Amino acid sequence: MSNELLRWPVHVEVRLKSRASARFDTIRKFVQTFVISHDRLGIPSVLEGWQDVPELSASVEHINICESSCTKQSLSREEMILHVHVYQPSDGESFEEFSTGSGNGGEDEDTMAASVCELPNRGWEGLWNSLIYAGDIKLKLLDYIHATLLLSDANVDFNLVSWNRVVLLHGPPGTGKTSLCRALAQKLSIRLSHRYSHARLLEINSHSLFSKWFSESGKLVQRLFNSINELIEEEDSFVIVLIDEVESLTAARAGAMAGTEPSDGLRVVNALLTQLDKLKHRKNVLIMSTSNLVNAIDSAFVDRADIVQFVDLPTREAIYEILRTCLCEVISKGVVAPVKIPALKQAQMYEVVAKAGDEDACKTEDPHEKQKYLALRILKLAAQCRSQKMSGRALRRLPVLALARYLGMGSTTPSPDTVTDELATGAADIDIWLDGMSQVIQERMKEREHLQQ
Ligand SMILES: Nc1ncnc2c1ncn2[C@@H]1O[C@H](COP(=O)(O)OP(=O)(O)OP(=O)(O)O)[C@@H](O)[C@H]1O
Ligand SMILES: [Mg+2]
Repeated sequence: MSNELLRWPVHVEVRLKSRASARFDTIRKFVQTFVISHDRLGIPSVLEGWQDVPELSASVEHINICESSCTKQSLSREEMILHVHVYQPSDGESFEEFSTGSGNGGEDEDTMAASVCELPNRGWEGLWNSLIYAGDIKLKLLDYIHATLLLSDANVDFNLVSWNRVVLLHGPPGTGKTSLCRALAQKLSIRLSHRYSHARLLEINSHSLFSKWFSESGKLVQRLFNSINELIEEEDSFVIVLIDEVESLTAARAGAMAGTEPSDGLRVVNALLTQLDKLKHRKNVLIMSTSNLVNAIDSAFVDRADIVQFVDLPTREAIYEILRTCLCEVISKGVVAPVKIPALKQAQMYEVVAKAGDEDACKTEDPHEKQKYLALRILKLAAQCRSQKMSGRALRRLPVLALARYLGMGSTTPSPDTVTDELATGAADIDIWLDGMSQVIQERMKEREHLQQ
């Protein structure tokens, strides 16, 4: 058996302060030296301690050790192949918009067909980490990009091995498809910054591409893609195009061919497919699309997608993590009294050894017992959410509904004064929040029963 040590690529993302003027190269070297001064690093983790290095503390805001395809929770220095990416996100406001107008001021035709933003963008910071999936969807998408880059670099003959640079994410509403596209765009702009000096995200407003003038829609699509082509002309710029709710643009052509749909829809689909076929030869573009209704999409579009990824409702385990991150946020902002909530792995260990009634033992003072109680309680909440098929969107708003509930529970809390005082001083107890969340879930269940009647 070989004794050779397996080494894993480890990506380190270094965010600079808005006003930092240090050279990226210099920071990269300092970070590299700092990272390898550690014997082991958690994967993923937030790097700390760099604040004591003056050259870093002057310019750096955050250092993230990213997730890796390696299954270990930590890696030793010798096991890592470091890739340090330094970036300085632009400040959200640099939105540019494209109109579908011909430029001669024709009224109504000047609807916004797309908006463009510079990447990496401060507005999308943290989005990638906030998205939690049971499977490895995020890594799978990143690996796909790396594979296409590798083959592009190797100059493989496109007649023999080819791909379309199209990704389609589909699944129920609120499962984070649009967010994942934006987060991936941000991630790519950081990871590819050594090859492309600029990156842009162009979001197409699908509905605006239908002209009120019969038969003009195909031309609108073409005009929009002319603008996209102009952006791609700059070879040092990477462009990610997001076509959200793509079914509205690419409604299945079967209906149109049978003569049951106006032929304008057919023109849009044809124009889009033609434009996509042209774009596939460009190295510096990626098309991301999302849909709730994959069956309603034209099969020729689906066939062009290199990856068709189903994004499902969160599992109980993913729900636990989503709820935990929600709660950690309100704790860190002082709205809820400080308390540590165990990560999923720890919670699952508590679950294995739990006895009946453990999740009701809330009044314990012992910190270890308290954590165990919280873990079991949140796991139970997560199971309820799962049985109700709650989406990530519904879960992320649970805290605000729980707070509303909590404010409205004057009769069940000691006194309205206490409630206000607790919120004002940040002393609100987590138990009251969990009670509130549990009530919100139960009410939701009742409401849904009404809806189904
Ligand atoms: N798996 C998840 N993990 C964490 N947060 C999630 C998850 N899924 C959704 N969310 C949150 O829900 C909100 C809505 O997500 P988003 O709009 O991306 O969903 P979507 O799938 O595009 O929905 P729709 O199909 O209705 O357009 C976002 O704030 C996102 O952070
Ligand atoms: Mg969406």
